[in-house]
Amino acid sequence: MLQAQEVLQNRYQLERQLGNNGVRQTWLARDLQATEAEHELVVVKMLAFGGAVQWDDLKLFEREAQILKAIDHPRIPNYIDYFCVDDRTLWFVLVEEYIAGESFKDLLNRGQRFSEKQVRKIAKEVLQILIHLHELNPVVLHRDIKPSNLIYGEDEHVYLVDFGAVQDKAAREGVTFTVVGTYGYAPMEQFGGKAVPASDLYALGTTLIHLLTGISPADLPQKDLRVQFSDHVNLSPAFMSWLQRMVEPAPENRFQTAQQAYYALRHGAKKPSYNSSLAAVTKERFINNSGCGISSQEMVPEEILGWNWGAFLMPWLWLWTNNVWLGLLCFIPNVGLVMTVILGVKGNEWAWKSRRWRSIEHFKQHQRGWAIAGILLGAPLSFLLWLVTFAAIAGIFV
Ligand SMILES: Nc1ncnc2c1ncn2[C@@H]1O[C@H](COP(=O)(O)OP(=O)(O)O)[C@@H](O)[C@H]1O
Ligand SMILES: [Mg+2]
Repeated sequence: MLQAQEVLQNRYQLERQLGNNGVRQTWLARDLQATEAEHELVVVKMLAFGGAVQWDDLKLFEREAQILKAIDHPRIPNYIDYFCVDDRTLWFVLVEEYIAGESFKDLLNRGQRFSEKQVRKIAKEVLQILIHLHELNPVVLHRDIKPSNLIYGEDEHVYLVDFGAVQDKAAREGVTFTVVGTYGYAPMEQFGGKAVPASDLYALGTTLIHLLTGISPADLPQKDLRVQFSDHVNLSPAFMSWLQRMVEPAPENRFQTAQQAYYALRHGAKKPSYNSSLAAVTKERFINNSGCGISSQEMVPEEILGWNWGAFLMPWLWLWTNNVWLGLLCFIPNVGLVMTVILGVKGNEWAWKSRRWRSIEHFKQHQRGWAIAGILLGAPLSFLLWLVTFAAIAGIFV
């Protein structure tokens, strides 16, 4: 039996047990070979092979190690090591970075409750991690999002841990599958072996409900398979609709991707639509708010933001097709140079707001065209103008 102070591989000294689910043990340990103090603490996960532990457990454990090794994300612990130890029992050991903080389960157990504002922030942070995982090829589904697998870091950011239930390939029809996920948090389709990206959204939704109500979703009443939580919370109508949509029983009635859920949360979900074609229209409305007017306070899609080379290099031509009339200031001597830089910074936002674009892709294509024109034409022309100016100034002083 493994005990505190025991050293594995002459390197990892076990300190304190963090979890034991019967099959796996999780320990906080000290890396005796760590060169920097901040990397001294590590998390050691161990699986004892044999007895109750079956091939399926080992398969999931090895997958956990592989996925952690492959994923590089600031809010997911880094992989450190993977090895076997023979101590009468055969142990498979995974070592990963320790995230300083507390799990949301610990915080709930201590009686902490979370406000709508806090829960919105947590939701956004987890969705950002899920956007990354779901956009990987092949898609990575976590399948076990719940308060104990989310850590509230000392840096006040949310981290996702425990990739022990992860799936990285599409489940094939008719093939036997391992049931993973936790009752109450995981959606029905997952217990039938058909996890999709929207399954992680359901688990995030039920987790958020737990944080808001302090009641485990398995203990909340259900009606037509829907978790009934409205009596226990006091939420704004927009956030209520958003959360209800996250925990729709049928996956096709939820947001389809983490990206969609994130947009809806940031830009304010309209009334929940339980019909997927309607959902597509609603989504279009959230994202495509182009043409709302340059002075409007509306948020613009994050993907379009950034430096606009076309606006910077050819402001005098760029402004006409983008309807950014403020750009006319670039024709005024002295002010012009400052305006050119401002157009580089704000060009994308202003162009988005001043004209109606068919889609984000349409917008991006247009700006790409101007950037290419700017580099091929604008930059050499500007360079020539500067050269002429310098030559003229030099001529005056010679
Ligand atoms: N990388 C980590 N950093 C900090 N705490 C962790 C880390 N990994 C796990 N923990 C803590 O240990 C607990 C158990 O680990 P976990 O990986 O979830 O094991 P299990 O597969 O048994 O659920 C988690 O609920 C969490 O509180
Ligand atoms: Mg866990």
